Amino acid sequence: MGTAPEKLATAADLLTGTEFNAARVRELFRLTADVKARPDRYRTALAGRYLALIFEKPSLRTRVTFEVGIQSMGGGSIFLDHTGTRLGQRESIKDVAKNLERWVQAIVARVFEQKALEELAAHASIPVINALSELYHPCQALADFFTLEERFGNLQGLTLAYVGDGNNVCHSLLLAGARVGANVRVATPAGHEPDAAIVAEALRVARETCAKIEILRAAEEAVAGAQAVYTDVWASMGQEQEAAQREKLFAPYQVNEALMAQAAPEGVFLHCLPAHRGLEVTDAVMDAPSSVVYDQAENRLHVQKAILLTLLV
Ligand code: CP
Ligand code: NVA
Repeated sequence: MGTAPEKLATAADLLTGTEFNAARVRELFRLTADVKARPDRYRTALAGRYLALIFEKPSLRTRVTFEVGIQSMGGGSIFLDHTGTRLGQRESIKDVAKNLERWVQAIVARVFEQKALEELAAHASIPVINALSELYHPCQALADFFTLEERFGNLQGLTLAYVGDGNNVCHSLLLAGARVGANVRVATPAGHEPDAAIVAEALRVARETCAKIEILRAAEEAVAGAQAVYTDVWASMGQEQEAAQREKLFAPYQVNEALMAQAAPEGVFLHCLPAHRGLEVTDAVMDAPSSVVYDQAENRLHVQKAILLTLLV
């Protein structure tokens, strides 16, 4: 891919996750904890505010949590299904942005190409939030580290092992992990490592926060003693035609009970979901008491409410 994290975002956008420095992530997590503990306080916080949700790919969690999130704070949402037509196909992305900014207060977009998000942000005077692109999934990674902070109390020095494909979720975990001071070890098959420019950006931030970032080959090496073991699908949305070939290549990266036994005794399992049970993770691991996958899904709601409060108020 070779794409450097973009610097185009204004302070009000969330396009890559790099817009939030370590202090802003801490502030966001404080707000998330309050939103989660006292949702009634925020019942009218975004009254009269509307979100446009543009999705070029399917979604369960991201769509539901953004829609419930804004509605539970007094606002509303409009879902624009773009799973059949790419953004920019019917009219230019610029014109989409210039129209939407007249009616709604923010755009949440899930796209095939990061540059579509950047184009939206360049032309819209309202915040644009990345709901997943081929390169990043910032809302997911923020919810994941919030989940780990709830579980362990402290993120500084905690080790998260990500095994599997060096994809969008992996990239966002690297960027967010570096910001919260967590150690992130990534193990992937050859040719599926995370993007070098994104790793370099994570390493730059990690030097400031004393986090350790390691890109490895063996799943066992990454998982050894880790407090958190994370995996994602081996073929992401848009890569379905590669799924069969990837199944063979990624088989040694399956998170099963034998691999989990290498983690710290208090180690937890994470997955952004949707999961392909029996491929990247076994039922036994998904359904074990140490699995926090549904806590992660719940926290998408609370973290995104805090993101909306931060960007829209
Ligand atoms: N984890 C996640 O983003 O799920 P959806 O694809 O269902 O939104
Ligand atoms: N890497 C996956 C994440 C889904 C939430 C994908 O892009 O399909």
